[in-house]
Amino acid sequence: MKVTVVGAGAVGASCAEYIAIKNFASEVVLVDIKENFAEGKAMDLMQTASLNGFDTKITGSTNDYTKTAGSHVAVITSGIPRKPGMTREELIGINAGIVKSVSEQLIKHSPDVILIIVSNPMDTMTYLVHKVTSLPTNRIIGMGGALDSARFKYRLAQAMECPTSDIDGMVIGGHSDKGMVPLTRIATRNSVRVSEFLGADRLQKVLEDTKVGGATLTGMLGTSAWYAPGAAVSGLVHAIACDQKKMFPCSVMLDAEYGLSDLCIGVPVVLGKNGVESIVEIELDEAELSQLRDSAEAVKATNTLLNDLNL
Ligand code: LAC
Repeated sequence: MKVTVVGAGAVGASCAEYIAIKNFASEVVLVDIKENFAEGKAMDLMQTASLNGFDTKITGSTNDYTKTAGSHVAVITSGIPRKPGMTREELIGINAGIVKSVSEQLIKHSPDVILIIVSNPMDTMTYLVHKVTSLPTNRIIGMGGALDSARFKYRLAQAMECPTSDIDGMVIGGHSDKGMVPLTRIATRNSVRVSEFLGADRLQKVLEDTKVGGATLTGMLGTSAWYAPGAAVSGLVHAIACDQKKMFPCSVMLDAEYGLSDLCIGVPVVLGKNGVESIVEIELDEAELSQLRDSAEAVKATNTLLNDLNL
């Protein structure tokens, strides 16, 4: 199993590191436009192999996509990250052109590849990849919900003063501060609904903190976060590489599921060797459905900005 990660910045390198540590891939190719940068990150990571006990071979390349040929999965993290105070949507002008050309290069050298899009605004970048390539819908996956759900579980565990391994929960909707829909109603601690432990005010605070999870870290770090994004991507790649049929919320093209069409937005999907094996339609209550619809409206509004970009 060969995996390419485009963008050797903090998110790309952390993603390569977690994939290597999980030891399921034979090779990870890191690609970056900055001369020798991916090669340097790859060398540094390879020097952790004996320390961390992995056999995955990590190589780097300065924009030479021939090195990515035959990749089963490719992760696109390229583009600029958020600075404090910026929304993910503000990155569209720069990142759209980059994501378009990177996806075309990847597909040219790996026609059977499954693409995972991380670059922001992620739901719109995932939609863009559908529009500019002819990959089937099951092979284009946007990473956001797995990360947002991990942040949701962290916040719930903090509020309940319990380990995160006790918590199960999911965030659907757009990967944006306003668009996320944390499903507090069905989140559980060891099968017991979290509402049994937390009052409405505490739950509301968890929900709000979850939605601004990325922005909070951008304010603290001066750039966007990388450990949890890298770990979330590595989980998706692992599920595909090992045909796990695991369920994650991911941004995928909808065709009437949840009453929505012609956009990519976070919903639960099953991931396996074909990429998206199925979209899971769970029953939402009226409030959740209406939040998901509002989120979809906002994603669609951002998607229309692509029309002005001359791509
Ligand atoms: C975040 C970026 C990866 O939420 O969108 O940290």
